[in-house]
Amino acid sequence: MTNNLLTIAYITASALFILSLGGLSDQETARRGNGFGIAGMLIAFGATAFSSQVSNYGVLIGGILPAVLIGAIVASRVAMTAMPELVAILHSFVGLAAVLVGFANFLNPDANLSGVEANIHEIEIFVGIFIGAVTFTGSIIAFGKLRGVIGGKPLLLPGRHVLNLGILVGAIALGWQFTQSQDGLFPLMIMSGIAGLLGINLVMAIGGADMPVVVSMLNSYSGWAAAAAGFMLSNDLLIITGALVGSSGAILSYIMCNAMNRSFISVILGGFGTGSGISPASDRQPVGEVTPTTVEDAAELLTTAKRIIIVPGYGMAVAQAQHSLAEIVKVLRQKKTDVRFGIHPVAGRLPGHMNVLLAEAKVPYDIVLEMEEINDDFPETDVVIVIGANDTVNPAAIEDPSCSIAGMPVLEVWKATTVIVMKRSMASGYAGVENPLFYKENTRMLFGDAKKNVDNLLVQINAQTPTLVAR
Ligand code: TAP
Repeated sequence: MTNNLLTIAYITASALFILSLGGLSDQETARRGNGFGIAGMLIAFGATAFSSQVSNYGVLIGGILPAVLIGAIVASRVAMTAMPELVAILHSFVGLAAVLVGFANFLNPDANLSGVEANIHEIEIFVGIFIGAVTFTGSIIAFGKLRGVIGGKPLLLPGRHVLNLGILVGAIALGWQFTQSQDGLFPLMIMSGIAGLLGINLVMAIGGADMPVVVSMLNSYSGWAAAAAGFMLSNDLLIITGALVGSSGAILSYIMCNAMNRSFISVILGGFGTGSGISPASDRQPVGEVTPTTVEDAAELLTTAKRIIIVPGYGMAVAQAQHSLAEIVKVLRQKKTDVRFGIHPVAGRLPGHMNVLLAEAKVPYDIVLEMEEINDDFPETDVVIVIGANDTVNPAAIEDPSCSIAGMPVLEVWKATTVIVMKRSMASGYAGVENPLFYKENTRMLFGDAKKNVDNLLVQINAQTPTLVAR
């Protein structure tokens, strides 16, 4: 393949990656966005494989074939809830690849480079290996914590920030030695070791329950590691792709931090969160009485309501109640009831968790709204169904400045006329904070497994609207 053709292929692939990111930002266009990404990757891969730089196809096929097979098998089998683990381990591969590309570049330098160009190339190698090593070890620790192989409790070493700063200063000093000495292999190896320690220290200091934010942050690091590898290999496409992944990962982490009321800086520096997700509760106990309800009463409320908002959370995912819920929505919509979903940005355990489940159950996209789009509509809503959500609808976030989720934006469901909360017990959610919503006068608690209750609700609603069932 000529260099001109290669450049055209790389520009096309870059454009497809940008279109892919654009598509993924909306549920309705996500599938198309994914398609753009796959097409971009195929073009990028094909163009690189047939470029003049590649001659040993035996080695290429020997490496690629098993990787494609393993990747396809693992990705097709992974459960939705184990996705963060898979992403974490894949990030570690990107980090390791950046380290290996760096060493390969150093050991087999480009003879055409001299003077300033050669110096810049050395810095690229050094920085690329540094970011790669931090990403590699950090991602392995994140994977271990998510899998439960490593304890979830944050390991807060005394003076860990000083230690991290020391490692950073040490790496800069080694970088100076690397660019000045004739044989830079020794400082390069020492730097790789201490950068790996930095990755371990940063992620060990973060509670297992906060790993999804860390995984998103490591996603960003892996992007920058790929961009650094692109500089080393003088590959424009890798630079563009790496920068896209690096910046979008950082933006996603920022959004998640805001939605979880975490400080972005503490994620980068490490050392926040608790082991199990249980934070120390505030002393304030909710006041009021809990009003339990039955499936029959809940069904009546739903069939007589004009406007309904459904707020799903982690419990819906655990119970796998989305399919029966989608059936209820269908029946109510046929009855001309206005039914919509309100989705909190961190409902569930991974970004977009609820959206994926609702899309899987074929809930129409146009009735699935983000928190900002729907939060003002609760006062005009007759019934809100909270299904397995807890922290994301907790009024304590607004009312109790001493609780651990104070300041976290929540769906203000209690402003509706009636709220039906489906959960199994009075247990707190992920953040371990008591929820005053359950004690409010307009709240009805429908205790039990969400799937069982939704199935029974569907039967009751169908019984109460027989003409629709017959249609
Ligand atoms: P949570 O606050 O975790 O509450 C889920 C509730 O579901 C629990 O209180 C539980 O109560 C109930 N539940 C569990 N299994 C159930 C079942 N089979 N049937 C019915 N109910 C069931 O959920 P949320 O409102 O979605 O909030 C998410 C939390 O996770 C936030 O604190 C967020 O910061 C955190 N987080 C989110 C992410 C992302 S990216 N989404 C990442 C990390 C952490 P019972 O035990 O009484 O049934």
